[in-house]
Amino acid sequence: MISFDKASHIVKLTNGSIDYVVYINTEGYPETIYFGKAMRDFNPETMRTAPKWHDETHVYDPKTGSERWFADGFKQNVAPLELSPHARRDKRGAPIICMRENGSFATDFLYVSHRIFNGTEPLVGLPSAHGDNCSTVEFLFRERTRELYVKHRITIFDDCDVVVKNYTIINKTGLNVTLSRAMSMQLDLPRNNYALTHFSGRWAAERNAVTNKLVDGVQEVSSNLGATSAEENTFAYLSELGATYTHGEVIGFNLVYSGNFKLRTYSDMLGGTHITYGINDEDFSWVLADGDSFVTPQAVVCYSSDGIDGMSRNMHDFVRNHIVTYRHDREYKPVLFNSWEGCYFTFTTDSIISYIDDAAKIGAELFVLDDGWFGRRNDDRDGLGDWYINTDKIDLGKVIAHCHAKGMKFGIWFEPEMINFTSDLFKAHPDYALREGNEDVFLGRHQMHLDMTRDDVVDNIYNQMIAVLDRYDVDYLKWDYNRRVYEHYSGHLGAERQGEVYHRLTLGYYKLLGRIAARYPDMMIEGCAGGGARFDLGTLCYCPQIWTSDESNPARRCTINFNTSFGYPLCTMGTHVNDCKLFDYRAKGQFALFGTYGYEMNPNKLTAEEVAMLNETAELYKRYHKDVVENGDLYHIADPSDGEYYIMQCVSKDRATSLVLSMNLRCQKDRFRFVRLRGLDPDKRYKNSHDGKVYYGDYYMNVGLNCSQEWHQEFECQLFVLEEAE
Ligand code: DGJ
Repeated sequence: MISFDKASHIVKLTNGSIDYVVYINTEGYPETIYFGKAMRDFNPETMRTAPKWHDETHVYDPKTGSERWFADGFKQNVAPLELSPHARRDKRGAPIICMRENGSFATDFLYVSHRIFNGTEPLVGLPSAHGDNCSTVEFLFRERTRELYVKHRITIFDDCDVVVKNYTIINKTGLNVTLSRAMSMQLDLPRNNYALTHFSGRWAAERNAVTNKLVDGVQEVSSNLGATSAEENTFAYLSELGATYTHGEVIGFNLVYSGNFKLRTYSDMLGGTHITYGINDEDFSWVLADGDSFVTPQAVVCYSSDGIDGMSRNMHDFVRNHIVTYRHDREYKPVLFNSWEGCYFTFTTDSIISYIDDAAKIGAELFVLDDGWFGRRNDDRDGLGDWYINTDKIDLGKVIAHCHAKGMKFGIWFEPEMINFTSDLFKAHPDYALREGNEDVFLGRHQMHLDMTRDDVVDNIYNQMIAVLDRYDVDYLKWDYNRRVYEHYSGHLGAERQGEVYHRLTLGYYKLLGRIAARYPDMMIEGCAGGGARFDLGTLCYCPQIWTSDESNPARRCTINFNTSFGYPLCTMGTHVNDCKLFDYRAKGQFALFGTYGYEMNPNKLTAEEVAMLNETAELYKRYHKDVVENGDLYHIADPSDGEYYIMQCVSKDRATSLVLSMNLRCQKDRFRFVRLRGLDPDKRYKNSHDGKVYYGDYYMNVGLNCSQEWHQEFECQLFVLEEAE
């Protein structure tokens, strides 16, 4: 709910659990006077008081030739603002910079009006949060000297403690204006006793949690690689010093965007924290023609006073309810078998059919033919850009018919944004590759990036893709992306527009992905980027799940999954059993249950015992995934980065069923003998699948789950199912 009190100039957004309060001061700057747990008392007078000694409070006014105080007690450079000016009044870092006609850097937006409405409105050209159970305030600002406007929206959701914010910049100046920074939000907090946790990594080791106490000055989390990247993820959080999984204030951040981003915290000398988040301003500029608008991606801010897991569960509800749009998402997701690690590029129609037959024996319900079925693709040096079937290698119609005859769904791999220089497409259109004239071009995995800023390139790939997808009955598409952007130059855009390339590439990705998703609404698309290098909310708006990493060995993957799941629900995290030797197939199957379960190995080589193990875990997936893992609540219990155990717990929303997974990483017998569970109903009685014993929820949450008896060796997994007893 959002209300405006005319007398006090206060806009209050609340969902009964959190409040976000904006005071519109008479100087024309909306001040964020509160963001936190819902409360009863508000006094703008005391809540917005800056330090008394702070004297940046008055200006020389040439109109009167005298000194005047800022109206309304406004204190520049200290007041917590919704949109700080640049090169005037504020040195903390403005989210928007747009030079004036006279060359001045000053950008100073002042309040004009606001409107409040139920729900939210989609963003033009960008994916965004959706849903009815939310309300939005839209402020209109005008730049002090010209007809340059900003619409600033804040939406609060009723079913999760999340607000989303963004700016739309509108040019009515009669001239072109150039944006040199166009971020999505600012949030000023009146304290800085926080640590910043972000998720850095690399290929096959995505999302290591890095936590640093905020220090005075600037800290940044960013990507300039063209996509959200394996190096940094868009999700990050601030936690009050001393916060734990269950206690303390934690504020999570994310961006509904898949391109270059920058989250910047500036911790000031007066004990405040100034946060900006949005498109990375490195090598960014945008020429905004008169009459045009620039829409910034939505920034997501999630609040919890119940620790890291409180924030995390709110993020999960937000993603499930307001980001994922695939229409069958809340339905059961089939057990997936992917051909990649089993045979890579080397297969025939018969070998794939034998894979399908053996995949069915381990409970697979969806068979995915990965890389290698198109063009002249027999290794990774050719084929990208040529999306016609390699009929010498594979009879796709026969494979799909076989799959469907067995009652299985069929899926196929594409990497639409890339091109090999050996491809027919490159021979016909060498200008389609992103490059600068005849300069040499870095080849990431032997491939170049298509110039997705061009509509004709998007159209070409779209037409090639639909020629395959219209002809064949495809239930699933894996959308891969295996290199980063280095040469961000488009010969198609003029010199003054090269700062637009990165953002236009991301818009091109959404155009193509959006058109494919709209044309085949029943086809599930899984995102992927050389593992999990584009795991973000922008992608999730089209793809209900994303391949989390190319590392499927649970000893390493456990850290990747554990950390990814702070910001993203398990149902979005593709997790497969492969043939890694450290674990037996039962353990690998149990591990994959805490994600979207699938397989990736040579199924012809499985022994009868292994087939039996995998059938056992596939059955558990079919029985419990939807209610407990997909739609339930997640609790992080033991962090594998500590090197000893990996323990996660899921509880169904009705608190009738819980799954607990524990993995012993270091042959420790007693360290976690009694694992205190969370989220159960203390008054419900639960039967433990291991020993058949029945105890109240409060027993498991206070005494704990006794795990000691079976932890005899490293890399042993235990899965406990607790079900409400009659
Ligand atoms: C990278 C992906 O992460 C893998 O799963 C696989 O699809 C390969 N690309 C195929 O080239």
